[in-house]
Amino acid sequence: MIRVAVAGAAGRMGATVCDAVTGAEDMELTGRADPELGVSVDDVLGDADVLVDFTRPDTALENIRLAVGAGVHAVVGTTGFDIAEIAAMPGDGKVLVAPNFAIGAVLMMRFATEASRIMAKAEIIELHHDRKLDAPSGTAARTAELMQGDVPIHSVRLPGLVAHQEVILGDVGQTLTIRHDSTDRTSFMPGVLLAVRRVGTLPSSPVVGLEALLFDDA
Ligand SMILES: NC(=O)c1ccc[n+]([C@@H]2O[C@H](COP(=O)([O-])OP(=O)(O)OC[C@H]3O[C@@H](n4cnc5c(N)ncnc54)[C@H](O)[C@@H]3O)[C@@H](O)[C@H]2O)c1
Repeated sequence: MIRVAVAGAAGRMGATVCDAVTGAEDMELTGRADPELGVSVDDVLGDADVLVDFTRPDTALENIRLAVGAGVHAVVGTTGFDIAEIAAMPGDGKVLVAPNFAIGAVLMMRFATEASRIMAKAEIIELHHDRKLDAPSGTAARTAELMQGDVPIHSVRLPGLVAHQEVILGDVGQTLTIRHDSTDRTSFMPGVLLAVRRVGTLPSSPVVGLEALLFDDA
């Protein structure tokens, strides 16, 4: 059994992760950390093999630092912080950070990356619920980073949305639109559970993107 603690357990994503871990036959939910629950990340690390972090841009790095230092692996979904800082953290815990754990979003990024090598120009429109703290989204920033050329990003924040992205590519007399929609937060759970199962065996750390676990050439 993999012992899993969740940081941000009272949040929208964290609560969904707690349900998914509870429903997984090979995992045990050993801790729920969240200021809303009066439980700190330090309190839950002693009983965990893996910490899953879905918190805030201003707290994720400290949580990862605590986990790595305690030899606990970290699966991180929080977006909007400087991933480069993870590499210098002392400790034995391995880290996988993914801006998007939905398989369809990973495929969208891959197809957009390939199309950008051939088509003349591209822009990204990302649309999220209006409680999201960061803009542009981590998914859009990562997509633009992977694509060829300068790719502008437009951010929409409205109630009623969950997580959506359109990559529009243009060339002579034509456009190509690649769109992904997460209509429910359960869309992220197969990817999160896969990362929890695999993070401890990563050959290097940190690893960015779920694609590293899905494609041999990533
Ligand atoms: N990677 C992905 O696939 C993916 C998908 C959706 C959302 N996200 C990201 O996940 C993060 C969380 O999103 P959300 O909608 O669940 O937010 P949310 O505001 O609903 O939940 C965040 C929770 O973190 C808690 N928290 C704050 N500081 C903490 C700390 N130091 N330790 C533990 N918990 C702490 C808050 O009390 C809150 O309950 C955001 O950064 C969002 O962009 C990533």
